[in-house]
Amino acid sequence: MIIIFKFIKDKLTKKSIEREIDIEKAPKHVGIIMDGHGRWAKKRGLPRSAGHRAGAQKLRVITEYAKSLGVKYITAYAFSTENWKRPKAEVDSLMELLLEYLRDRDQLAGKDVIIRVIGDRSALSDEINREIDIVEECTKDREGLVLYLAINYGGRQEIVRAVKDLSKQLKDGEISGEDITEQMISDRLYTPDVPDVDLIIRPSGELRLSNFLLWQSAYSEFWFSDINWPEFTEKDFAGAILDYQNRNRRFGGV
Ligand code: IPE
Ligand code: IPE
Ligand code: MG
Repeated sequence: MIIIFKFIKDKLTKKSIEREIDIEKAPKHVGIIMDGHGRWAKKRGLPRSAGHRAGAQKLRVITEYAKSLGVKYITAYAFSTENWKRPKAEVDSLMELLLEYLRDRDQLAGKDVIIRVIGDRSALSDEINREIDIVEECTKDREGLVLYLAINYGGRQEIVRAVKDLSKQLKDGEISGEDITEQMISDRLYTPDVPDVDLIIRPSGELRLSNFLLWQSAYSEFWFSDINWPEFTEKDFAGAILDYQNRNRRFGGV
């Protein structure tokens, strides 16, 4: 049965999938855990840095395409709070690539995309921080999709940050412990005005969150695939959107 289903799926073209998509029902907010860059490079006998570059290029392609399918927000996981554990040479090359892409914002996300960065910026270099300020300022008046780049981002770190903010207000007597609500935590996350992530896409065969959007994913739908991110295609993305559309999100109801 699964084999037949896969056969039918492989026969579908991007156009035929697009015809099935109802833009009104598209996820507003898609999270992407860009993964498999290293494995993609290894398969081709290339350095891991080549995989990171190919992954960054793919983000632009998919972001532009997502807009045409009705997606309003993309949060792309680019560097986690745990990724500092990697060899210094790899971290350095990732930071170099980041700087390069921030400097060439249209290469990063296309012309109509608003770019914002979430994560703990205090550990990033002054140079990167400066480029982030510039890119956010230069794209803020655009009207397209909003791309949140998660850099030195960790879901737990984000929640701790919100709790620290609340505890300061508690200490200052502005609020009392009994008054704390879920909304008050949500309001103190990096993206208070953005709807919770509807769909999380993780390529490369890993079936985990790796500390991505922990609070915001309480009722997200997940879409996993074995494809490494640099090989991900518009058709794959369209397939994920169509799968999402056909799911029944109950949020605990009936
Ligand atoms: C994702 O690809 C990029 C980052 C986490 C920065 P990886 O570098 O994790 O590639 P794999 O998972 O080792 O193949
Ligand atoms: C998750 O990928 C982080 C990013 C995509 C930035 P990892 O490759 O770091 O995750 P693990 O180590 O496989 O869980
Ligand atoms: Mg990985």
